[in-house]
Parts: sequence; C-alpha cells; structure tokens
Amino acid sequence: MPKVTYIAHDGARSTVDVPVGENVMRGALYNGVDGIAGECGGAPSCATCHVYVDDAWTDRVGGPAGAAEAELLEAAACEVKPSSRLSCQIVLSDALDGLIVHLPESQY
Ligand code: FES
Repeated sequence: MPKVTYIAHDGARSTVDVPVGENVMRGALYNGVDGIAGECGGAPSCATCHVYVDDAWTDRVGGPAGAAEAELLEAAACEVKPSSRLSCQIVLSDALDGLIVHLPESQY
C-alpha cells in the first residue's frame, strides 16, 4: 500500500498508508491527519483540501494543477503556488508510494 507523508505547516510529519485508488485528501481524513478539511468530499468544489506537492513529486502526480483545478484553487485560504493541488484530485497508485505533500497553514 502506498505511503504518503503529510508535512504540516509547523514541520510535523505524518506518514500513513493510503490504499491504491484512494485520494490524498481521504488518506489524511481516514488517518486522522490534521490540516486537510475536504468539506465537499472531493466533488471537487471547496478547495479546503489544498496541498503543496513536494517538488520531487510534481511530475509523478501529473504535473501542476490543470485549468479547472487552478480555478477552484483561487478560493484557497492560503497562498497558491505552482506546486498547489487539490489533494482530492490526486489518486494513489503504486507509483506514488512515498509521496510527500506539504500542508498550508490553514484551509479557511
Ligand atoms: S475536497 Fe473539496 S475540492 Fe477537494
């Protein structure tokens, strides 16, 4: 099962197992990782699942946010960067084993 490491704004790291086919947002919620709200359940429509993908993983998660995702990210509470993604749109595969995402200071 792929492991995902979530690094909080204060540097705290949480590494959890997330099943293949599940998304990074649910991986946090199901494992009690704070810092991702995921209010819309992955519709996607809320941008409360904003993460910064670690630079080493940009290509493997499919690159930067596409146009539709970037439009939703405009509603994100914290600064949107080139590495910003909606974590509900990143679906785990074995190729993403070891994925690292950084969490913004807030989702609101
Ligand atoms: S959970 Fe709402 S946009 Fe990702």
